[in-house]
Amino acid sequence: MRISYLLFLFALTLNCVTLQAEEKNEIPDVNGCLKCHSHQTITFTNTLTKHEDKRLMNPLYILDKDHFAKGVHAKFKCVDCHSAEYDHYPHKAELKLEPLNSCLDCHGGDVKYASYKFEKIDEEFQKSIHFKKIGESFTCSKCHNQHYYQAKSRNSSIVSDIVLLSNEMCMSCHSNNNKFQLLSDKLKPALAQIHEWLPNQELHFKNVRCIECHTQVVDSLAVSHNILPKEKALKNCEECHSKNSMLEASLYKYKNLQSRSQKGKLNTIISNKSYVIGAYQNSWLERASFVILALVVLGIGAHVTARILKKLI
Ligand code: HEC
Ligand code: HEC
Ligand code: HEC
Ligand code: HEC
Ligand code: HEC
Ligand code: HEC
Ligand code: HEC
Repeated sequence: MRISYLLFLFALTLNCVTLQAEEKNEIPDVNGCLKCHSHQTITFTNTLTKHEDKRLMNPLYILDKDHFAKGVHAKFKCVDCHSAEYDHYPHKAELKLEPLNSCLDCHGGDVKYASYKFEKIDEEFQKSIHFKKIGESFTCSKCHNQHYYQAKSRNSSIVSDIVLLSNEMCMSCHSNNNKFQLLSDKLKPALAQIHEWLPNQELHFKNVRCIECHTQVVDSLAVSHNILPKEKALKNCEECHSKNSMLEASLYKYKNLQSRSQKGKLNTIISNKSYVIGAYQNSWLERASFVILALVVLGIGAHVTARILKKLI
């Protein structure tokens, strides 16, 4: 009994030592990349002249460090997604051609993230006007920057924050002709003019997500991804400016699920001028959720270790 215990301890130590050795096997860390990719200038040793060179960084390739640290993939190393060969500068030209993973490559069929319903989102997205008109080149990443994406509507109860991030996704393209024309030969439509019929446009765009008017609400999804043709967009004021409105059915319905009551009672949360009916929380469910969380963390740990090992081999 004792011996097997000692053997177990020995194996454990051995395991830790090898793991550490493997970690030292230099996976370039985020800071190594960010020392160039978060600055206006770069400094490197020119291998031809042997001099230290200082040059301007391509501004399109500068990442916002803080924004990255808040995103859902903040724990990633850059080379978990990009080739480890980026370790060297100048980067090899072929690296430009390297295909990158899409959301579904990693999240498809993954039980850990089942609550997000990635497959259902994909199915809805493929019905959307973007996919129908533009096809495969309209990827999820066109809206969701993999460096920065935050699942805000899950983790915040401040409507204006949720709306801001959500609308920024649409505006990153609909207010940027260069990005728009990567996908279309047309000029981007002038949004202010098109929405002229809407009074207090600025106020509306700060308080309602574009998707509130432009998608069909699907019961099983918190965020519908089926952007409808413009003719089917919502124009009827009553839909929102009345009780039992559609707003409550989407953003606010979602917030209901999210709003946490510390005492576990039915309650009403007043936030940001809009009222939300709090969700009833059962303390046993809460405890079960901790167990599930622990399992998820374990699962992710195993997954990440497996990924790292795979990379190294
Ligand atoms: C010495 C500075 C420096 C370091 C360190 C550096 N990069 Fe770069 N990177 C650049 C510059 C400059 C460019 C712009 C294109 C070029 O000059 O090759 C670039 C371009 C890129 C691109 C865009 C390639 C394209 O053209 O589509 C990616 C992706 C990239 N780097 C990833 C990384 C990763 C990942 C790391 C860390 C492992 C890293 N870089 C480290 C300077 C650097
Ligand atoms: C979760 C995966 C993921 C991680 C982590 C990641 N990237 Fe990226 N990166 C991508 C994808 C996907 C693209 C291509 C975006 C597109 O073109 O739609 C990209 C594009 C880039 C580009 C080209 C410019 C751009 O924004 O399109 C640079 C530069 C870059 N990444 C650098 C980095 C650096 C530096 C890090 C680490 C701090 C990093 N990436 C971490 C997935 C990732
Ligand atoms: C290279 C694989 C990879 C790609 C590509 C990728 N993800 Fe992730 N994603 C992960 C992993 C692994 C985690 C868990 C990270 C952690 O635990 O810190 C994660 C976390 C998340 C989370 C948070 C889950 C939670 O509840 O904590 C969301 C949301 C998410 N990703 C969405 C996306 C979206 C949207 C895309 C596409 C734009 C995408 N991911 C692309 C691997 C990936
Ligand atoms: C046209 C833009 C657009 C495209 C394309 C898009 N999304 Fe989204 N997605 C959004 C918006 C907007 C939200 C809402 C963000 C919020 O309010 O937090 C969202 C939310 C999400 C969420 C969080 C849902 C939740 O329940 O919290 C996930 C996961 C997601 N998208 C995955 C995907 C995947 C996978 C794809 C590709 C199949 C995709 N998205 C394509 C715009 C887009
Ligand atoms: C209150 C509802 C509402 C909101 C909020 C809203 N839209 Fe619209 N949008 C409409 C309606 C209705 C139309 C159709 C207008 C028409 O045909 O006269 C439209 C048209 C459009 C078009 C079609 C342009 C064209 O003619 O080709 C685009 C693109 C668009 N909206 C994008 C957005 C974006 C991006 C946001 C968020 C910043 C947004 N919309 C917010 C209701 C809305
Ligand atoms: C990466 C760029 C990009 C992003 C991000 C984007 N769109 Fe678009 N969108 C386009 C392009 C390009 C078209 C024009 C398609 C065409 O007519 O060929 C379009 C068209 C539209 C239309 C008009 C559809 C019609 O009937 O002609 C609406 C509405 C729309 N987008 C809403 C949105 C909303 C809402 C979001 C955010 C959830 C969003 N878009 C995000 C590029 C984008
Ligand atoms: C998608 C839902 C939605 C639609 C459709 C919509 N609104 Fe709104 N509207 C809002 C929200 C949310 C606010 C901000 C409420 C707040 O913060 O007090 C708002 C604010 C307003 C305000 C300002 C109220 C104030 O207190 O200053 C007016 C006026 C208004 N809407 C009129 C209209 C009219 C007219 C239409 C139809 C042409 C319309 N709205 C369509 C959601 C909507």
